[in-house]
Amino acid sequence: MTSTPAFPALSGDLHEHDDERRRMLLLTAVTASAGMAATAVPFVASFAPSERARAMGASVEVDIGDIPPGGIKTVEWRGKPVWIMRRTTAMLATLHALDGELVDPASRKDQQPAYARNPQRSIRPEVFVAVGICTHLGCSPTELPAGTINPSVGSDWKGGFFCPCHGSTFDLAGRVFKNKPAPSNLEVPPYKYLADSKLLIGEDDAGTA
Ligand code: FES
Repeated sequence: MTSTPAFPALSGDLHEHDDERRRMLLLTAVTASAGMAATAVPFVASFAPSERARAMGASVEVDIGDIPPGGIKTVEWRGKPVWIMRRTTAMLATLHALDGELVDPASRKDQQPAYARNPQRSIRPEVFVAVGICTHLGCSPTELPAGTINPSVGSDWKGGFFCPCHGSTFDLAGRVFKNKPAPSNLEVPPYKYLADSKLLIGEDDAGTA
């Protein structure tokens, strides 16, 4: 039986009737994150670009200085939720031991810019940026902290993300585990640092946007 995603992936083109669906997707992502992680940072309600410019796909500036260790912030880019997680040393230490359990541990598929094709899938190891959309059918996964008891992740869960629609799981670098419906790692969008604690999502020095 074919399941229907709760929130199908959004296209790049914006249409008027997409607005409500986009709001629902983002609301669900933020609500779920807040419920799963005590360190979650509230959704950023305002951005530098105007509403219209943002809707057209403008890059988004994000202050990451208020994200605590282990915390995650969700912002909107091109109608999609984008996560920024500040990973701790302990979180990063979990990554290298998982390779045998992952579909694409070395990020060979084109799911990230070249500068994020590394074990942490990020520019700076501690700051992880990813589009919060499952690569199976477009639901929004939720953060699943280490030690969470869940039938889909077993008893030795190191932390990561869980898609409730069909049970796909991803590690703290957004790499998908084997034997799950999602075929590839979470997308890392183009981004760059404007300052030590400020990111620009949607644009990088390689000209990708
Ligand atoms: S949409 Fe099917 S597992 Fe995520």
